[in-house]
Amino acid sequence: MSKRLAGKVAWISGATSGIGAAAAELFAEEGARVALVGRRLELGQRLADKIEAAGGQAMAIGCDVGQEDQVRDSLARTAEAWGGLQIIVNNAGMVHVQLLHEYSESDWDRLMAVNVKSVFFSLKHGLSYFKQVPRSYMVNVGSISSFVGQAGTPAYTSSKHAMLGLSRSIALDYAADGLRCNCVCPGITDTPMLREHLDTTPDPEATLANRLQRVPMGVALTPLDVAKSILFFSCEDSAGITGTSLTVDCGYLTSAEWEHPGRTAFMEQG
Ligand SMILES: NC(=O)c1ccc[n+]([C@@H]2O[C@H](COP(=O)([O-])OP(=O)(O)OC[C@H]3O[C@@H](n4cnc5c(N)ncnc54)[C@H](O)[C@@H]3O)[C@@H](O)[C@H]2O)c1
Repeated sequence: MSKRLAGKVAWISGATSGIGAAAAELFAEEGARVALVGRRLELGQRLADKIEAAGGQAMAIGCDVGQEDQVRDSLARTAEAWGGLQIIVNNAGMVHVQLLHEYSESDWDRLMAVNVKSVFFSLKHGLSYFKQVPRSYMVNVGSISSFVGQAGTPAYTSSKHAMLGLSRSIALDYAADGLRCNCVCPGITDTPMLREHLDTTPDPEATLANRLQRVPMGVALTPLDVAKSILFFSCEDSAGITGTSLTVDCGYLTSAEWEHPGRTAFMEQG
């Protein structure tokens, strides 16, 4: 069977770990030349070496996606190295666990820059490459927090809701240029980000086990599970689909059941 991304060039942000790293390896297996874009150049280089050793083509590029010039330059380096660019995966993201009234303005701004503004930057500076080809693809990584609230992460939840709106806007405004833009929304995925988040709780393993009790499939996703959906939207397997989202969550959002702490202020008289 022919490889699904043969001849394609992909730019994947946050490709140094977790979902982005899994997507990079999968894309390379499917024949793409892959730019591994992230802040941690050494990790990216290690993964690029691994991909090349397995017969793929990859290049690590240091980039803070919250900085417009770095996004622009990393896209240019990718397109120059391989003669074009057809796929952008906006996967890089961060979480800030704090109640809203405890945030500083810079906490809020930084998260929004990394999680949302980065998509704007990548479209703005990637469009000229997309316009050179009849078909191009943008996949944005949202979250189940694109649809529902999540305790203690107000900026993250806001950013992931915004990601969905931005994906729809991009899909509308650039369909005439041959771009399809979709959003993959993962549930609980076992990555360094999840572990970091769990580590803010007193007993991380107990917290995870407790959360998984609300997941119909009863397990956490692997990064590869999510990467497969990113691949789907990055090739003609998803022909005809744009401006939509795909929830990949082991059934998490299908349940309306929720555990509450027993009493809330609204239950008190008066
Ligand atoms: N793990 C989950 O349960 C889960 C659930 C829903 C959505 N997501 C989303 O999936 C995406 C990938 O996260 P992950 O779970 O693989 O976590 P991860 O921490 O392994 O990966 C996030 C990547 O983004 C990179 N990154 C962060 N800030 C950056 C910046 N300023 N510039 C460049 N790169 C930056 C990190 O270095 C890392 O490589 C994120 O957008 C996250 O919000 C994760």
